[in-house]
Amino acid sequence: MLLELTDINKTFDSGEVQVKAVQHLNLSIGEFESVGLIGESGSGKTTVANMVIGLERPTSGSICYKGAEIALPQDVELSKAQLKERQARAAEFRRDVQMVFQHPAETFSERMTLGAGIEEGVIYRKQMTADERRKLMYEALEMVRLPASYAKKYAWEVSGGECQRAAFARAIISRPKLLLCDEPTSALDVTVQAQIIELLIQLSHELRMSCLFISHDLALVRGLCSRVYVMKDGVVVEQGETKQLFEHPQDPYTVELLSSVLDFRKKTER
Ligand SMILES: Nc1ncnc2c1ncn2[C@@H]1O[C@H](COP(=O)(O)OP(=O)(O)O)[C@@H](O)[C@H]1O
Ligand SMILES: [Mg+2]
Repeated sequence: MLLELTDINKTFDSGEVQVKAVQHLNLSIGEFESVGLIGESGSGKTTVANMVIGLERPTSGSICYKGAEIALPQDVELSKAQLKERQARAAEFRRDVQMVFQHPAETFSERMTLGAGIEEGVIYRKQMTADERRKLMYEALEMVRLPASYAKKYAWEVSGGECQRAAFARAIISRPKLLLCDEPTSALDVTVQAQIIELLIQLSHELRMSCLFISHDLALVRGLCSRVYVMKDGVVVEQGETKQLFEHPQDPYTVELLSSVLDFRKKTER
C-alpha cells in the first residue's frame, strides 16, 4: 500500500465540547489507485485529508506512507534523533503528496500571478534554475488546458473553473505520487464541474497518480474511483469496490445518500 491509515481517531477539544471528528478509521490507497471518500457535510472527510497532509495531527492511530510512519500522534513524545529522522521522511512525503482544496482562490495569493503560484509547487527543488521552473510551469498549464497567457494573470481575474485548473497545475507540477482532492468541484458551476471532472480523469491516467477524492458529488467518485469509503459522523459505515457499492449498497446510510442524489437529479431535470 502507498498510504495506510490505521485506527485513526481525531477529537477536537474546543472548551467544554468535544467533537469526535474521526473514529477508528482504517483506510488505504494503493499505488496508482483512486479512492473516494463520500459522506454528508460534517462527517469528518476534510479532517481525514488534513491529517494525511499534516495540517492536523491525529489524536491516536498511525499513518504510514510507503510503509513508514509519518504522522505524529498528539500523545507521543519523540527523542531528538527520532524527530530528525521523521522530519526527513516528512520532507519526502510533502514532495510526493499534494492537495487541491475546495475554494480555488485560496490556493493563490492575491499579489502573485498564477504562473508564480504554480512555480511555488517546485520551489523546494533548490538545484532547479528559474528557467527550468518556468518551463515546468508552462507544461503544467498545458496539462490543465489553460493558455500560456494565464501565467501572467491573477486568481481574481479568472473564473472559478479556470482558477481550479491553475490549482491543479500547481499540485501536479511536482509530479506527486498522491493527490488529495477535497471537494474540488463543489464551489463551481455545474457545467464547469463536468469539465473539471473530465480533466481529472485525464490527469489521473496521464500522470499515473494515486488519488483520494473527497466529495459529495457521487458522479465524480463513480467516474474516477475504483474503491469508495462512506463516512457518517466520523465513522466509515461502508466501503468497497465502487461498482458494487453503487449498485448494491448495504448500509442504510449509503442507500439514503445514493437516493438523495437521484431525487436531486430528478428535481433538477424537470
Ligand atoms: N478545527 C476544528 N475545531 C473543532 N471542530 C472541528 C474542527 N475541524 C472540524 N471540526 C468538526 O469536526 C467534524 C468533521 O468536520 P469535517 O472534517 O470538516 O467534515 P466534512 O469535511 O465531512 O464536512 C465537524 O463536526 C466539524 O465541526
Ligand atoms: Mg469538508
